[in-house]
Amino acid sequence: MAFLAESLKRIKPSPTIAVTDMARALKAAGRDIIGLGVGEPDFDTPDHIKQAACDAIKSGKASKYTAVDGIPELKAAIARKFKRENGLDYKPSQIIVGTGGKQVLFNALMATLNPGDEVIIPAPYWVSYPDIVLLAGATPVAVPTKLDLGFKMKPEALDKAITKNTKWLIFNSPSNPTGAAYTRDEVKAITDVLMKHPHVWVLSDDMYEHLVYDDFKFFSPAQVEPALYERTLTLNGVSKAYCMTGWRIGYGGAPEPLTKAMATLQSQSTTNANAAAQWASVAALDGPQDFIPKHNKVFKERRDLCVAMLNQSKGLKCPKPEGAFYVYPSCEGTIGRKAPSGRTIETDQDFVTALLDAEGVAVVQGSAFGVGPAFRLSYAVGTPVLEEACRRIQRFCGGLK
Ligand SMILES: Cc1ncc(COP(=O)(O)O)c(C=O)c1O
Repeated sequence: MAFLAESLKRIKPSPTIAVTDMARALKAAGRDIIGLGVGEPDFDTPDHIKQAACDAIKSGKASKYTAVDGIPELKAAIARKFKRENGLDYKPSQIIVGTGGKQVLFNALMATLNPGDEVIIPAPYWVSYPDIVLLAGATPVAVPTKLDLGFKMKPEALDKAITKNTKWLIFNSPSNPTGAAYTRDEVKAITDVLMKHPHVWVLSDDMYEHLVYDDFKFFSPAQVEPALYERTLTLNGVSKAYCMTGWRIGYGGAPEPLTKAMATLQSQSTTNANAAAQWASVAALDGPQDFIPKHNKVFKERRDLCVAMLNQSKGLKCPKPEGAFYVYPSCEGTIGRKAPSGRTIETDQDFVTALLDAEGVAVVQGSAFGVGPAFRLSYAVGTPVLEEACRRIQRFCGGLK
């Protein structure tokens, strides 16, 4: 329809949200559905965080607009977090709070990209990266990674992808959708390449920082290579580690000219992030952190359970990721086989559709994340439900002809 903006033709609705919606609709129609498509913890927001929001509402602190880039108390808590956990010094003027990490990412890309600019995105990638780049009129450049290399980008591949038009590398560790996380040495190998190309900035999406297992140690690029600080946006938020996806608070630290530009953009879109949620986030960042390792213990058990069960499924191959709450098995071994419906599985889209149809298990096709044939399974669901889902996947794969 000519009424709609041309730019909208460049993007599509989030495929992960589409799968969740489909699973919800089938459930509402009475089907027995297990949804493993969604990227959010099944744990509830801790009580002390909820209480801080209630207190802010009751005392009137949440009633009015706040500063566009965030209340001073939250920016101070974020500065303390960056120092404490990442060894990074950010002044309040270098910090911006947005409505979820997604808005911070959106602000950063919209505030910096021009037509002709390129953004390097290791694939598989979080679905929003390329679409926001496209919406900004720039060009996403996917750098595919391989399952047998743990879905991590080789420094040589990054070096090869950089051109004079490259503006950003989007670096996401632990990764959505693979769960792959880069060790300190692996991060250093990437930052060494960036040091050779002083025109390239790095947008480090640290959203899954706290969700790492087996004593894995998280490192952010500007922490590993302080010389990169001047061209780094360190992005993070409370959604995943603090079980606050619905509260919509994310934040970033960057050189001041960038945070200022992002705030200008935000001032003409959403103004400030929700005030009560900002007060809740102060409590999240400054309060007790002991629930995080408790949750991680459960996530690790689930990861181990589904990696083991998926690797026992005919035609699937599932690497064991270091973090996040996703696994990304290859379903290459099922291609060419016939589903119970009689349809031949030709793509990973066919695989996930047939799986949903036959066994009521909803996962997301790898082609949505730029590398297939594979699928993303989120194990942020109750362990018995996850076990049942994996049993159904095993049965489905075993029954393919
Ligand atoms: C890699 C990654 N970055 C950022 C986000 C944004 O999170 P939010 O907008 O909930 O803060 C997500 C959410 O799924 C994500 O997976």
